[in-house]
Amino acid sequence: MQKFIITGGNRLSGEIELQGSKNSTLPIMAAAILAKDKCVLESCPNLADVYSAARILNSLGCKCSLVGNRAEIDSSEAEGSKIPESLMREMRSSIMFMGAILGRTGDCIFSVPGGCELGPRPIDMHLAALSKMGAEISSCGGEISCHMPKGKAHGARISLSFPSVGATENIILCAVLAEGETVINNAAREPEICDMCRFLRSCGAKIKGDGESRIVVEGVEKLHGCEYRIMPDRIAGATYLAMTAAAGGAMILKNACVAEMEPFISVLEQTGCFICAAENRIYLRRGGRLKAVRDRIRTMPHPGFPTDAQAILMAALATADGTSVFEENIFDCRYRHTDALIKMGADIQVMGKAAVIRGVNRLHGADVEATDLRGGAAMAVAAVGAEGTTRISCISHIDRGYEKFENMITSLGGRIIRE
Ligand code: UD1
Repeated sequence: MQKFIITGGNRLSGEIELQGSKNSTLPIMAAAILAKDKCVLESCPNLADVYSAARILNSLGCKCSLVGNRAEIDSSEAEGSKIPESLMREMRSSIMFMGAILGRTGDCIFSVPGGCELGPRPIDMHLAALSKMGAEISSCGGEISCHMPKGKAHGARISLSFPSVGATENIILCAVLAEGETVINNAAREPEICDMCRFLRSCGAKIKGDGESRIVVEGVEKLHGCEYRIMPDRIAGATYLAMTAAAGGAMILKNACVAEMEPFISVLEQTGCFICAAENRIYLRRGGRLKAVRDRIRTMPHPGFPTDAQAILMAALATADGTSVFEENIFDCRYRHTDALIKMGADIQVMGKAAVIRGVNRLHGADVEATDLRGGAAMAVAAVGAEGTTRISCISHIDRGYEKFENMITSLGGRIIRE
């Protein structure tokens, strides 16, 4: 098993170009099934999760190749309707393929996705919505089977009890080729959903209201292929900014999605970092010590503070002057990285949904284990700013979401090797 060995203490400086968004790429790859044609995706990140999605597409009969950051997906012969259990286990987000496969073939068989590092991950909202759109759903021996008796879905009015990102995406994917109009109330507003909708519109879909809480999809007969550029990854961007905030120094993030990163940037600014964002670039400079964030940092659906940036910012705030408090409102088990940060010298107390971070003078290197994707990245943020050497094991978690992670950190002047 590979490890990252990080020696902290260097101030960071330099420019890096942000990768394409993982959380856009995965649903867009699923959406490509609906085109029944060739789609080209630019800025597609080279990540373990993207390779898993490509394997799912192949298993359904798509031709899928990834050369550099350009993916070509030809779904003209993708008539498969079963997601193999092994691929379902590889990546929980494979649930995203359900709506697209059902929309394309009228049938979908997959295994029940288990819980994950972040706690139980139910799919009740996904299934209830698909059933409203006409799906007959049955489960047997851990396998779930969805079947549209009329061959295709019909439009429906769906009100989500919580703005779930995955459920919103699955409903849209199933609705674009459905008969009639689908209305989603209390839809999630995450920028990656808008990216998926822009892709689908480029293929001929009729979708309105994405980015708002009421989305309307008018089913069309068929779609066509297109060329599409994936949006930048706001969470990877947040990670490199937090890393420079933790280590000190100055950096420029190029190819950044400034507006989409605003909920994160506005909180990071409260730590005393100088941040200047214009067009698609973000400049960050940290001179003196970081300040704690005064207001409670509550994770919320977009445009609230993103849960995916919680661990990452916490790692930087571990050495801020004063006490910061997080409140995790999206996932039940999203503080598993705190043990590693505490091992590195952080003063963190977790009480249910809240985590209280009392800033210490400095962190020190330690042997730690990545617990999940963003938790692992948070350990790297802490390690780059810490004194001494940190060994992070289980980095397959980090490889799921960060392209060329060590090259990015090295080009900012950080010391990291993969071993
Ligand atoms: C997506 C993101 C993930 C991010 C999360 C929240 C991708 C690939 N993943 O995950 O990085 O952290 O949004 O911004 O885009 N829930 C239910 N029943 C359901 C569906 C969800 O109870 O049917 C609950 C979940 O357990 C969780 C909450 O709703 O507590 C939010 O989940 P959701 O928005 O669906 O997250 P994902 O789409 O899984």
